[in-house]
Amino acid sequence: MSGGHSSYTPNTGIEKWVDARLPLPRLIYDSFVAYPVPRNLNYAYAFGGILAIMLVAQIITGVVLAMHYAADTGLAFNSVEKIMRDVNSGWLLRYLHSNGASMFFLAVWVHIFRGLYYGSYKAPRELLWILGVIILLLMMATAFMGYVLPWGQMSFWGATVITGFFTAFPVIGDPIQQLLLGGFAVDNPTLNRFFSLHYLLPFMIAGVVILHVWALHVTGQTNPTGIEVKSKTDTVAFTPYATLKDAFALSLFFILFAYFVFYMPNYMGHPDNYIPADSLKTPAHIVPEWYFLPFYAMLRAITFNIGPINSKLGGVLTMFGSIAILFIVPWLDTSKVRSAVYRPWYKLFFWIFVANAIMLGWLGSRPAEGVYTLLSQLGTAFYFGFFIIIMPLLGLIETPRRIPNSITEAVLAKTKSGGRPSGVAAAPETKG
Ligand code: HEM
Repeated sequence: MSGGHSSYTPNTGIEKWVDARLPLPRLIYDSFVAYPVPRNLNYAYAFGGILAIMLVAQIITGVVLAMHYAADTGLAFNSVEKIMRDVNSGWLLRYLHSNGASMFFLAVWVHIFRGLYYGSYKAPRELLWILGVIILLLMMATAFMGYVLPWGQMSFWGATVITGFFTAFPVIGDPIQQLLLGGFAVDNPTLNRFFSLHYLLPFMIAGVVILHVWALHVTGQTNPTGIEVKSKTDTVAFTPYATLKDAFALSLFFILFAYFVFYMPNYMGHPDNYIPADSLKTPAHIVPEWYFLPFYAMLRAITFNIGPINSKLGGVLTMFGSIAILFIVPWLDTSKVRSAVYRPWYKLFFWIFVANAIMLGWLGSRPAEGVYTLLSQLGTAFYFGFFIIIMPLLGLIETPRRIPNSITEAVLAKTKSGGRPSGVAAAPETKG
């Protein structure tokens, strides 16, 4: 996946033999050992690696859970209880997988916000960003279908509500809904196809992640200054510098993950999902998992008709549009300066955008009435306004701060010793 010249030299006879036939060790060496990364990456840049590890963890725990799970409406709920009580370490597997989904989303939101802050999506990284948005969509579909599998009350009613969205579309809506459900209501065929797809999609995500990392290795990583790498002194070798830094960030992330798994494993779930699904009893409030709440708030914010578009269709279009708009972000941002570090106004609006997303998340958990609806409408307007108005306009009218000439200059400007405590040697230049 390396974009440039290879510095790999096979030493032993066997290495030379393999390299001439399948240069996999060369690929790994060039991509994850000698690969030059900007020397000023901060911890926000560790989340891509964290996501890769979390994807593997989800696949491993998921495959083992599937060995004990029964995708049948008469058995599903009890099979999950059996995993919790009778399967050796089954409770751990399940809590790792369910909390793992939340941690995965926590990491992906930080990863995306990092991208928005440092302008990671700007040329020449548009495709890298677009592949990321595709991953996000696949992750959302996977998480939604996974939540249906325990066949609790929230599983059933969540599936009913979400598949019901599609009926808002004229003509094609009903056939799409029936295709998803495998009939006219959430039932056994729905559970079967959701299980099948929930198993399949993570492998598709893994495929797109490979393309994502490939694209990354062609363009190279950005860095907090937003200035491209200009000389060898701007970079350090991926190993040991980035690997060790990522490993430290991953350890902290795992401590938080373990805290949830061992001390509050059901905190991020809904108690109603411990009640078996009942098609005759609708829960008082049907709420999605926390990571979908901002989108749920935007869906319910559209309480009025917009011309020929009725409020239901308007809500569904708004919700899908909130993700779809991410695809064109590289072309909405007109600024010549990449990083928010040098863009005072963009930085301000970025943090308002983060606060707004958190507010929308909170509103998604509230009933859709009164002041909550009004705030959701304002929050939705700001969400879209940020992309459609603020991003293009700021690029034209904002005066950015002075940008250093190079990454090295920016690093050296921080302290006289080059950002290192005195007496610590400078990192060697990369070979590649
Ligand atoms: C399973 C999910 C994902 C995995 C495993 C993953 C993996 C990675 C890795 C390893 C990196 C390099 C390290 C870093 O910069 O953090 C990276 C960079 C990047 N990712 Fe992702 N990613 C995922 C999802 C996404 C999503 C959802 C988006 C955007 C919607 C995205 C956008 C980007 C961008 C733009 C970069 C380049 C960052 C830069 O150099 O400034 N990624 N990703």
